[in-house]
Amino acid sequence: MQQRRVFSGMQPTGEAHLGNYLGALRQWVALQEQAECIFSVVDYHAITVEYDPAELPRRVFDMAVSFLAAGLDPDRCTMFVQSDVPEHTELTWVLNTVAPVGELERMTQYKDKTEGMESIPAGLLNYPILMAADILLYRATHVPVGEDQLQHLELSREVARRWNRQYSGGEPFFPEPQPVMGDAGRIRGLDGQAKMSKSRGNTVGMLDEPEAVWQRVRTAVTDPQRVRRSDPGRPEECNVFALHRYFTPEPELARIDRECRSAGIGCVDCKRMLAEGIAREFAPMRERAAEYRARPERVREILGDGAARCRALARETMQGVRERMGLTAWTEVPAGG
Ligand code: TRP
Repeated sequence: MQQRRVFSGMQPTGEAHLGNYLGALRQWVALQEQAECIFSVVDYHAITVEYDPAELPRRVFDMAVSFLAAGLDPDRCTMFVQSDVPEHTELTWVLNTVAPVGELERMTQYKDKTEGMESIPAGLLNYPILMAADILLYRATHVPVGEDQLQHLELSREVARRWNRQYSGGEPFFPEPQPVMGDAGRIRGLDGQAKMSKSRGNTVGMLDEPEAVWQRVRTAVTDPQRVRRSDPGRPEECNVFALHRYFTPEPELARIDRECRSAGIGCVDCKRMLAEGIAREFAPMRERAAEYRARPERVREILGDGAARCRALARETMQGVRERMGLTAWTEVPAGG
């Protein structure tokens, strides 16, 4: 197999939720068995929107605990906090000089986030450059991303190409990172519409107790055409059934499909089974989270080791970047002139 290095990042939103798990963490856990993997809690990304500095450390820590709880294994992958490796910002500046503003302005996420804003912080525009720097700093070849980040990843590839052309004689100092798509597609939130997110309140915490999972799942929107319990359901149109696919094994899944169609079971029953499935699947994660929370020094050690390893890799990349850009040899300018 070709030499692969995987990089991905997740924003420090506190404890991970169902969408983080289905859309990313689940896949990361599988990837750590197949390739060299680096995973980051990207706090520099998180400061591009309004936030409370007093709360950020806890959000970072909780996300790191969620990484470990989901099954990322410090013996099988490297995990660290982005701001512990200052080279991320250094490379961001460098890549700023080759990133086309026109393309940054075309990013869907940028347009969504800045809609109606009176004064747009440059950080929102440059956000994808920081993301490119994250990936290129480790010369990663593969990046697991959700659909919503594909556009940003494409920009990373463009930035890598441009820098290589300009400073590396076309030789691929930076590999063009390939997306690794999961099977999750676009997972809709419990509201059946928007992408899952904590701020929208349309998801379930990965570490929630079974009762809390049920309290969330019971609010989930089902097939809008199934108004009465006696109406036949359409599993293919139902977001709750879509979620069942991840948590309910066959032949149970086929049975739910059948009985939903024949109105044998109602939406409440169906949601109850889903909540149970989620709580069951997440039980070992709750346990691991509790273990790590009881030993925060172990979490700090894991992140510290990860940052040390990443700093070493980052320094090496930056040395190569600086050499190729004429940023190192000024000490060798001879006397005279
Ligand atoms: N922008 C990504 C998100 O919001 C997070 C992220 C930051 C990332 N840096 C990355 C993802 C590098 C993949 C690779 O989901």
